[in-house]
Amino acid sequence: MKIAVFGAGYVGLVSGSCFSDMGNSVIIYDNDSEKINDLDRLKIPIYEPGLYDLIRKNHSEGRLQFTNNVKRAISESDLIFIAVGTPEGEDGSTDITQVIQAAEIIGRNLDKYKIIIIKSTVPVGTNESIKNIIKSNLTSEIPFDMVSNPEFLREGTAIRDFMLPDRIVLGSDSGKAFEIMTDLYQGIAHTENPIICTSIQNAEIIKYASNAMLSARISFMNQLVPLCEKYGADIKEISKGMGYDDRIGTKFLQAGIGFGGSCLHKDVSSLSYILKENGFDNSLIQSIIDINKKQKIFIVEKMLDKMKELEGAKIAIWGLSFKPDTDDIRESPSIDIISELLDYGATINVYDPQANNNMRQIFPEVNYFNDPYSCAAGCNAIVLVTEWSIFKNLEFKKILESMKDKFLFDGRNIYDKFDMNHLGFKYYGIGR
Ligand code: UDX
Repeated sequence: MKIAVFGAGYVGLVSGSCFSDMGNSVIIYDNDSEKINDLDRLKIPIYEPGLYDLIRKNHSEGRLQFTNNVKRAISESDLIFIAVGTPEGEDGSTDITQVIQAAEIIGRNLDKYKIIIIKSTVPVGTNESIKNIIKSNLTSEIPFDMVSNPEFLREGTAIRDFMLPDRIVLGSDSGKAFEIMTDLYQGIAHTENPIICTSIQNAEIIKYASNAMLSARISFMNQLVPLCEKYGADIKEISKGMGYDDRIGTKFLQAGIGFGGSCLHKDVSSLSYILKENGFDNSLIQSIIDINKKQKIFIVEKMLDKMKELEGAKIAIWGLSFKPDTDDIRESPSIDIISELLDYGATINVYDPQANNNMRQIFPEVNYFNDPYSCAAGCNAIVLVTEWSIFKNLEFKKILESMKDKFLFDGRNIYDKFDMNHLGFKYYGIGR
């Protein structure tokens, strides 16, 4: 199929390159010509495992192109995916300006029947209003169909998530659009991971409800952390004991330093905002965010309690990205933790395998290191923020010898408490 993707951001690049790898002819449009030029020279703006190879292969074989010529992108395609950003407004609302701009351009340049698919995460009702915007910009009576096709890609495993999805959600009111879209996804849908054809409104809400449910599970476990600590219980054991119940399952039950990333916080805030705007009770959804906000700095309170003094202390932060295998620091707990520690007058050393450069933009004043050993040397405490695999098997004896004090605060509960204390660390996890 001939596909245009609007937006060379995270979702656009991953989806576009995966569609091309499935044998479709894909053209990714972005109005940022510098980004397009870079992509044409295979300079990829984000770090995502496997993405570079996928882009290189499909670009060199001619199935994947990049352009800032919008007319060309539209005229050379039958399906147009809108995958532009929908950032969070200050009040938790969703800013759909870029989706509206894309709709206006598509409307003005539509030359024959096409399917317009919204992949960007948008509040319920947006597809309907975007349809009207496209209609009002048409230069002649050209038919088109709308499809809501939310993405569920996780950073770090986005390509696998795209190629092996749990489900594909398609929302539309057109039988023809369902037929074409089902064809498009045929190669990757199976009985256990089906294509769900539903209404546009259902598809829009499914996306928000899924991310809110995932976040709710994390905040639920995080709320139990102080209780576990007070009574000498271990939150990891609690998760395990709960997870064996088939109705609950094991995923997204890991307590820690709170969830980050560009999606969970934004989508839960947006859902909470929509409920409130409509005059409905949003208390459960809102509390997911409130608990998370507190959880991000819970570890600093613990440090203060155990170390007594943070002013003048030298702290090593291991991991900056909001999770491993990405350089993304959006909403990362590391930002809240570093800024709290700086407020207390601590000196900060940091190391992340991929995200040092991104963090430099926010905290130019902290010390950046290229390995965990030099980062920890001379420090009073280490705080494990992101569970990159490099942190799991280190020469801990060497690290201990190089440290001033032996505090180890494990924000992700990746270490064995007994082993670490036995080695000589003053080990503190979360909820254990
Ligand atoms: C998320 C959704 O999973 C994906 O479907 C959506 O489309 C985009 O947002 P992503 O933000 O890439 O994906 O990361 P995810 O793997 O969901 O993790 C989000 C955050 O939750 C991370 O900070 C992670 O550390 C945290 N987390 C996850 C926990 O704290 N505990 C858990 O048990 C699981």
